[in-house]
Amino acid sequence: MSKPKVIVTRRWHPEVEAVLVDRFDTQLNDDDHSMSVAELQDALRNADAVLPTVCDKVTAEVLGADNMRAKILGSNGVGFNHIDLDAAKAAGLTVTNTPEVLTDCTADLALTLLLAIARRSGEGERHLRNGEWTGWRPTHMMGSSVTGKTLGLIGMGRIARAVAARAAHGFNMKIIFHDPFPPRAEDIAGLNVTQCTSPEEVFAQADFISLHCPGGKETYHLIGSEAFKAMKPGAFLINTARGDVVDEAALVTALESGEIAGAGLDVFEQEPTVNPGLLQMENVVLLPHLGSATQETRKAMGMRVVENIEAFFAGDTPRDKLV
Ligand code: DGY
Repeated sequence: MSKPKVIVTRRWHPEVEAVLVDRFDTQLNDDDHSMSVAELQDALRNADAVLPTVCDKVTAEVLGADNMRAKILGSNGVGFNHIDLDAAKAAGLTVTNTPEVLTDCTADLALTLLLAIARRSGEGERHLRNGEWTGWRPTHMMGSSVTGKTLGLIGMGRIARAVAARAAHGFNMKIIFHDPFPPRAEDIAGLNVTQCTSPEEVFAQADFISLHCPGGKETYHLIGSEAFKAMKPGAFLINTARGDVVDEAALVTALESGEIAGAGLDVFEQEPTVNPGLLQMENVVLLPHLGSATQETRKAMGMRVVENIEAFFAGDTPRDKLV
């Protein structure tokens, strides 16, 4: 029996690519370019499975391709706001993602940003590399302490809970959260977290606010000018979720006016473009969407896609089926 044809839209972890090549009739994206609408449509016409990543916009237009051969989109990433799930379902496609395997890695990066912005480490490194450091002095680059402060989580899914565990046990932080779909009691047992009835209740109390909600129309610009007004003046915003949850123009205004103290961002509204206002600021730490970027995690994510498409082609329901 011939192997299913699989098209991978970007370069993946080399060990995963080797597995894909071994187990499927696989077409890799050798030069790792970002595929155009026409290329994604061609992939859907020519493969049994297309394996996109969170940077491929699999819109209704893309999914409107005629003579589609593909039956499954095995997406490499946990977030799925880059895929129009309704259009995929209407086109008869199964869609899968890669939950769980990137939870710890992304939580680690949220803490990286939290510490970096509180302790001014990006700014300090630039200062040192620029040859501006004149030596230790009591008033030099004072930041904000983290230990014992209040961390507010917007969303309380797996990644938020992993952040809560690190912050509570590692930094003795008080954890509060809001999630319109609150976790089961057993999922937060032992975390010592306090549930708030609204995001505003979180904004009013938190020294650090970390976003862990999905992107998409439900949460679009959830953090805008009203939210910044509701935050404490010394608050820091951390975003490892999705860029469009934050109104970036309003964030720039809030940072410029001192409404909040700083922001640590791994995701942006128009990736890979970053609001030029942010690029000029010292009180922000900016990373290029590195939440899941470790060797171990990227390999695990890729292997989870392999598992999903193998189950699909064996006639089983893939473990991470979204639609
Ligand atoms: C995801 O999987 O959704 C992440 O944003 C990629 O790191």
